[in-house]
Amino acid sequence: MKASIALTAIAALAAKASAACWSEPLGYRCCSSPNAQVIYTDNDGKWGVENNDWCGIPSACWSESLGYPCCKYTSDVVYTDNDGKWGVENGDWCGINGTSGGNNGYTPSNPGNNNNQGGYEGEPTIGAQYTHSGNPFAGHKFFLNPYYTAEVDAAIAQMSSSSLKQKAEKMKEYSNAIWLDTIENMNSWLLRNLKTALAEQNETGKTVLTVFVVYDLPGRDCHALASNGELLANDSDFDRYKTEYIDVIEGHLKKYKSQPVVLVVEPDSLANMVTNLENTPACRDSEKYYMDGHAYLIKKLGALPHVAMYLDIGHAFWLGWDDNREKAGKVYSKVISSGSPGKVRGFASNVANYTPWEDPTLSRGPDTEWNPCPDEKRYLEAMYKTFQSAGIKSVYFIDDTSRNGHKTDRTHPGEWCNQTGVGIGARPAANPISGMSYLDAFYWVKPLGESDGTSDESAKRFDGYCGHATAMKPAPEAGQWFQKHFEQGLENANPPL
Ligand code: GLC
Repeated sequence: MKASIALTAIAALAAKASAACWSEPLGYRCCSSPNAQVIYTDNDGKWGVENNDWCGIPSACWSESLGYPCCKYTSDVVYTDNDGKWGVENGDWCGINGTSGGNNGYTPSNPGNNNNQGGYEGEPTIGAQYTHSGNPFAGHKFFLNPYYTAEVDAAIAQMSSSSLKQKAEKMKEYSNAIWLDTIENMNSWLLRNLKTALAEQNETGKTVLTVFVVYDLPGRDCHALASNGELLANDSDFDRYKTEYIDVIEGHLKKYKSQPVVLVVEPDSLANMVTNLENTPACRDSEKYYMDGHAYLIKKLGALPHVAMYLDIGHAFWLGWDDNREKAGKVYSKVISSGSPGKVRGFASNVANYTPWEDPTLSRGPDTEWNPCPDEKRYLEAMYKTFQSAGIKSVYFIDDTSRNGHKTDRTHPGEWCNQTGVGIGARPAANPISGMSYLDAFYWVKPLGESDGTSDESAKRFDGYCGHATAMKPAPEAGQWFQKHFEQGLENANPPL
């Protein structure tokens, strides 16, 4: 504010303005309305006069005058300071609840259900039915998960190295999957993110793809302990899975039909049906629910034209051996038929694992325990043939590259928990490898920085693999933020960030 044009008659004591605006830090009240008459404009903003004193005219959105856009889709408060409430969109700060900003003019439909971590709460216009054709990842903008952006921001706040901070900032430009790992989380995340993605799609005129992980089968994670779920392997929990989880997902997806969606289905479950029925009683207990659960969800969700599903197939060092692949052909073709007429687009590999895309140092031999598929590329090449010979009609793959850029320190490739030496791998992209037309995408399914499992031996979900020599410790519960692991993943990124 320029002293030279300061008003001569100044009211002695300005009442404290009720809402903060850009002029307050300069010692002037906010004008009562954004429509106040503009008396003077300078670099600070537009000035009006009320009660014989200068007042700052609130801009359409308070954050704009600070050089940041208004939040258009999100109401997720990531940070609060004297200026106001901040959210994050497209990797940049934005102001929430500006005078006319925030929610882009839509009225919240369900304000009571805001747990402060979601996104768009309004009712964006739902357009005509979208139908996937060809590669479900191709031709879309990939949705950026506001929750992950907030996790990364919180991580950056704990960093001192500026080069590390810069790397972390870049993480906010890449998409990763949204895990619906409990009924509660599904209720918090699914609708909210569908709406946010749709609002962005409406605003930009470009289709926005959202990837969710369906992850709540009864008796989940039957061969390990770290990710055991809330539902147990019994009939009444299976009813809950159907009615409180899958049916609810179906309802929301049926309604939000004008945007592309991908579902990664139940990580680890069917791979356990291939290899762990004989040796693990918990997997035998889960078998019925894993099989019937897949039939149920494929029938329902596989019938939606804008939804493409990928069933999880473990990774190269799980089902890569000849006998495992052969069994897998039988199990997966049976599961897919059981869900007919619902359709499955293909298979997701390496979800939350560390197996490199290519590892030219390895070939079938004692070092690989005679596994002919010692990296993801050779695994998918082999699985493509196996599944085709098993009669599966739609054989396409995605590979999780969020943590496979750098060979980890594991002494055995079966080690899966919080590996040291982790590095981010290839960035999410459709059709990433020419000549491999059946590879739909590289995608980040497991969000780098979220733990694989607790290293606390007294915890209920402690799994020995999370206490291994090559596992990073101390580690929090699966899904919780693990700063050290995140930082190492950034440092070892390949290609570098
Ligand atoms: C793990 C956890 C799950 C979490 C996911 C993503 O598998 O069990 O709760 O959402 O990883 O980090």
